[in-house]
Amino acid sequence: MAAAQPMASGPKGHWFWGSFTDFRQRRLAFLRELVSYGGTVGLRFGPFPVYMANSPEAIHQVLVTDASKYLKSVVTRRTLKSTLGNGLFINDGESWKRQRRLAQPAFHTKRISSYADVMVQSAEQMANTWQSGVPVAMHHAMPQLTMDIITRTMFGGSLSADFSDIGDSISRLLEIIMARFDRLYMIPEWIPTRENVELKGIVARLDSLIQGFIEERRASGEDRGDLLAMLLLAQDEDGSGGMSDAQVRDECMTIFGAGHETTANALAWTWYALSQYPDIEAKLHHELDTVLAGRAPTLADLPHLKYTEMVLKEAMRMYPPAWGTTRDALEDVMLEGVPVKKGQTVFVNIYGVHMNPQYFPNPDTFDPERFSPENEKSIPKYAYLPFGGGPRVCIGNAFAMMEAKLIVATLAQRFSLRVAPGQQVVPETVFTLRTKYGLSMIPQARATVAASAPAVADPAL
Ligand code: HEM
Repeated sequence: MAAAQPMASGPKGHWFWGSFTDFRQRRLAFLRELVSYGGTVGLRFGPFPVYMANSPEAIHQVLVTDASKYLKSVVTRRTLKSTLGNGLFINDGESWKRQRRLAQPAFHTKRISSYADVMVQSAEQMANTWQSGVPVAMHHAMPQLTMDIITRTMFGGSLSADFSDIGDSISRLLEIIMARFDRLYMIPEWIPTRENVELKGIVARLDSLIQGFIEERRASGEDRGDLLAMLLLAQDEDGSGGMSDAQVRDECMTIFGAGHETTANALAWTWYALSQYPDIEAKLHHELDTVLAGRAPTLADLPHLKYTEMVLKEAMRMYPPAWGTTRDALEDVMLEGVPVKKGQTVFVNIYGVHMNPQYFPNPDTFDPERFSPENEKSIPKYAYLPFGGGPRVCIGNAFAMMEAKLIVATLAQRFSLRVAPGQQVVPETVFTLRTKYGLSMIPQARATVAASAPAVADPAL
């Protein structure tokens, strides 16, 4: 008699919906609970089986060891296809490999270093509009800032640059996409619902805008130093040429979609966490006052802003903008001894592993010391993965960290922020982890502190 197949048993859930209601209605608590059921846990979302990869080992297997046995999930592709086309985020197989190879140089540290000034300028412009005591809607301000930066780094060299429509269009697009992710069944896009018609209109507007930028650049043939230039100039080593206009367009849309809201949320949560832990904020201010002494940060300061980086890493542990990701099995696979059939979905539980006390004691405490150079070494691989992992790790990882560090350094040097009275701060997970009721905060200028900063390093930092 054949041995019984090992089962991955999770909570039973609702008789019809299975765990889909838990996943939808109390997502973060549920993702944390799942960890106690094991490294790999089987669930049911309505009629669909879903496997949760909860442990660093299971996550490593899905994203790294067995990466070639999985595709981006059907849900992800179906929801994003009409917007991102064949862009890196949803592309797969040989086509993804070639696009990743072509796009990679655009994100090399050397190339993105030239964007540091734009990042600081944008942050300074925003800081100049803030006034002590006047509330700022951080849930709007941070996306506005990261959108400004990604637009300027992507198309900054364009002569006919009119960026005014891009920000609003992308923001609305993301809202529609987010609403779609949260449905078990998708309304086909050919049905002219209000949402579908609006989506098509926005995509068409953005397409024509981007196409205009591409045509202008193709005609001039110049490298104007921005991301668009890198995408247009990229050539395959085997001499098979570069990207078609359609591929460049898809990558532009993907970079907008993947690289704006994520960083904005990481920043919003960082400001919130700092407001709750004044001692940590004071230590951050001390580093900024010591390293910068009142001047604007530059690329050269980044290696010295160690505590700033620790603060950001800890904020992304507690509030990972990408709280999970999904894959569909391309063939039958064994995940930690659990059989996953071809076509079935595996969910990588990033939030669950980040909040697992086994790896992060007192996980609800905001403690940047977890990421001090000594302590960071003891975090098991794949217990912390805000940027994912394996071959599909975030291509904008270094861009995002540089941007977030420069923004925090610029703004925290000048202001201290506190949550506005009456503001409820509740996390909400849709596409990224955001604040459900927004995040209104009150800035207080720190002008005198910066001016009188002593130029000595604190050995504790
Ligand atoms: C804090 C900010 C960010 C976070 C937390 C983040 C997170 C992630 C994660 C988790 C993935 C992998 C998804 C998966 O495995 O399914 C990913 C992929 C990706 N990210 Fe980011 N990201 C951030 C910023 C950025 C930025 C700034 C850019 C571009 C400028 C970017 C572009 C991309 C792209 C193109 C992919 C797809 C890569 C591929 O599949 O080859 N991201 N990101």
